[in-house]
Amino acid sequence: MNRLFKILTCPKCGREYPINELQNLCNCGAPLLAYIQVEAETNPLEMIITEDESLWRYRKLLPIKNENDRVTLGEGMTPLKREAELGSLLGLDNLYLKDEGVNPTGSFKDRGMTVALSRAKELGVTKVSLPSAGNAGVAAAAYADAAGMECWVFIPDDTPSSFSKSCLEYGANVTMVKGTITDAGLMMSETLDESWFNLSTLKEPYRVEGKKTMGYELAEQLDWKLPDVIIYPTGGGTGLIGMWKAFDEMEKLGWIDGERPKMVSVQSEGCAPIVKAFHDGKDFAEPWDNAKTNALGLRVPSAVGDFLMLRALRESGGTAIAVSEDEIIEGIRLVEKHTKLSPAPEGGAAVIAARKLVENDFLEGTESVVVFITGSKEKYSELY
Ligand SMILES: Cc1ncc(COP(=O)(O)O)c(C=O)c1O
Ligand SMILES: [Zn+2]
Repeated sequence: MNRLFKILTCPKCGREYPINELQNLCNCGAPLLAYIQVEAETNPLEMIITEDESLWRYRKLLPIKNENDRVTLGEGMTPLKREAELGSLLGLDNLYLKDEGVNPTGSFKDRGMTVALSRAKELGVTKVSLPSAGNAGVAAAAYADAAGMECWVFIPDDTPSSFSKSCLEYGANVTMVKGTITDAGLMMSETLDESWFNLSTLKEPYRVEGKKTMGYELAEQLDWKLPDVIIYPTGGGTGLIGMWKAFDEMEKLGWIDGERPKMVSVQSEGCAPIVKAFHDGKDFAEPWDNAKTNALGLRVPSAVGDFLMLRALRESGGTAIAVSEDEIIEGIRLVEKHTKLSPAPEGGAAVIAARKLVENDFLEGTESVVVFITGSKEKYSELY
């Protein structure tokens, strides 16, 4: 194991678990995180393998035992580009889009899977399973295929067929389930025995490690000065939680000062448990009834990492905001018309959220704002 990582810790009850054994949730039901133990003032250039153009350039900051036995398809180090034309339409002087659609299977989910599958492989796993809204299933199927593992994905049955088709092409088993990702998760636990390692969002500790590299990349791409605001579409919340963890680590390393970005969670009006809990002042979110949105990654009625998202939003001085289905379509069209990107609906939602935050005066318009385009639109073409 990488010498910086000695233990997995529960951020809710503090219980510790050995890092060199397979783990899912803490006994208390909360996600486990791999905490980093560092001496401050390490020079970033000594820790980053700069000739590696994938997220594995940060491999010294990832809890992997054998650096050379990775399951990788060349993910990460995605473009961060200033978009002046779109920015001025939204009322923002300094808008940047981070394009996660260029990842190998078309979304930021690849980041989580490269680390999770690498770690699972070195811990002896041969079969993995997960419920997914779509993109995570495709990513898991691709990386399991690359790792030589069996994979079984449980997907809501109204998901466009391009997602299940992709999973099948990578050799995964696919079960379509009536309902949401929550129902898909229940079906998975009724169908499979414990020989299948559970890769569900935040129910294993390493997908979030892969996602945290978005935080390292932002800092490196902006010359170690983080933006004022990060706007992120959230379902299960690993992107947001991962970046917040990266900022914590970079502060410990002495790579950034104490000024962190305000974190903004974006959800759909048809499924907004985090937005509701945030504005109700709650530490945990109530499950959302009758969740409906075509931004499939945001259709997560209940997230095991709810308290971690809410904690990050509050600690950062950020906020949470919901957008309508029509606004999501408008967001996609705006990005397509005024940039070179073709965003997944979750990215469209985040773009519109930026405009709404200017309109409601949360943003002044002069801040540097990074909006995450978390995936490309291609697989959603039946819907948009
Ligand atoms: C394109 C896209 N954006 C955002 C999300 C939300 O990600 P998370 O569940 O990590 O919050 C998803 C999840 O499926 C997604 O596929
Ligand atoms: Zn616990």
